[in-house]
Amino acid sequence: MSSSDELPIGQLVRKESVHSRVYTDKKIFDREMEEIFRQGWVFIGHASEVPKKGNFIRRTMGLEEVLMVRTMDNEISVLANRCTHRGNLLCQHKKGKKRNFACEYHGWVFDFKGNLIDVPFSDGFKGELADHATTAAKVSNYRGFVFATFNTDPISLEEHLGRARFALDRASDLAPGGELDLYGGWVEHAFKSNWKMLAENNVDGYHVSFVHDSFAKGIKVNYKYENVLVTEEDKLECVARDLGDGHAEIDYEPTYEKPLVWLGVDPDRYPEYTDAMAKAYGAEESQEIMRKGPPHTFIFPNLFIAETAVTMVQPTGVDGVVNWHTPLYLKGAPEAVNRRILRQCEAALGPSAFLLADDATISERQWAELENSPAWLDLSRGADREEVEEGGTITSHYTDETPNRGYWQHYAKVFNDADARAADNAKSAVEAAE
Ligand code: FES
Ligand SMILES: [Fe+2]
Repeated sequence: MSSSDELPIGQLVRKESVHSRVYTDKKIFDREMEEIFRQGWVFIGHASEVPKKGNFIRRTMGLEEVLMVRTMDNEISVLANRCTHRGNLLCQHKKGKKRNFACEYHGWVFDFKGNLIDVPFSDGFKGELADHATTAAKVSNYRGFVFATFNTDPISLEEHLGRARFALDRASDLAPGGELDLYGGWVEHAFKSNWKMLAENNVDGYHVSFVHDSFAKGIKVNYKYENVLVTEEDKLECVARDLGDGHAEIDYEPTYEKPLVWLGVDPDRYPEYTDAMAKAYGAEESQEIMRKGPPHTFIFPNLFIAETAVTMVQPTGVDGVVNWHTPLYLKGAPEAVNRRILRQCEAALGPSAFLLADDATISERQWAELENSPAWLDLSRGADREEVEEGGTITSHYTDETPNRGYWQHYAKVFNDADARAADNAKSAVEAAE
């Protein structure tokens, strides 16, 4: 047993290092499921995935099965996908359209707000239907991105998103109508590593030239300066940012000199799209939106806007994670633009692509090593050359571990706050008993 075995979770994170137990300890994983995935805001899906009343999708909050539903009042609800009779999975389908959810075990029927509305052979039913509702989460939505929490008194979603909400604006504004339409379906890849490894990797600029060497050599932008693959540190133009609250990004905007560089095409390639954008935002502003392009931003704890893909991580155990991705389709954009986005998404993350397979291989190896050989891991890169902007955002060199440090500081805060609340409650209980 190492000395780190006794430390509270918050103490496994230092300013410039983190202990590997945070990836491999089952007890820590269980606490994450409670404090992060039940008590915090979690990304569930996009409103466009349930366009009509009665549409639903099946998702998870941590390990817990949930259903996201468009109710008959045209609102979005998120319900525990569990029958309150004997605990059967209420709905096994991944998505669809229903009038209510009828349990497949004994037929109890629930409405879209979770209320039990009918039971078969009701003469023998004891008690009140109203006492058997399935749990409904609190739900909030920003630009169509739906988040939920089982916390009954959470901070607002806006507060949770903090400065990261501008990334959701940046992505949504690329659609002429200002809305995304995630109708492409999700690809799910399962890996034997810890969910936080993929989350962190999304905003780690340091690994790109090594892990994705072949990919970086093959594309036109981002890792090149004057069209030569960058090997010199001072030539990289993109930046890394800690946005606070666990959110972080790599911003490729400095490499996007003209509109549509992020789509890998010339600015005049899609005149119909350019016209629709000019009509929606005005000539000048639309050019700037199309130049800035989409974000590369991770939103704590499970959402990542990966330029032209939306991805999310689903923890399945201390040693298991599923990475989901879907193309970032722009509502109101010509089909040719969305087709291009699909091709980009496939090329980066699809089954025969490089990026995700590269990252997953590394994180599986990393997890296996750390399980066998616990250690403090170094996160100090670039800590002495960061710039703190007004508002608290920390910007640094693209290869610096600034995003990772921000991620871990927030992670530690979640557990430090929870531990402090638990200590307060215990103290109050003792005082009340005296
Ligand atoms: S477990 Fe659902 S009706 Fe019995
Ligand atoms: Fe990567």
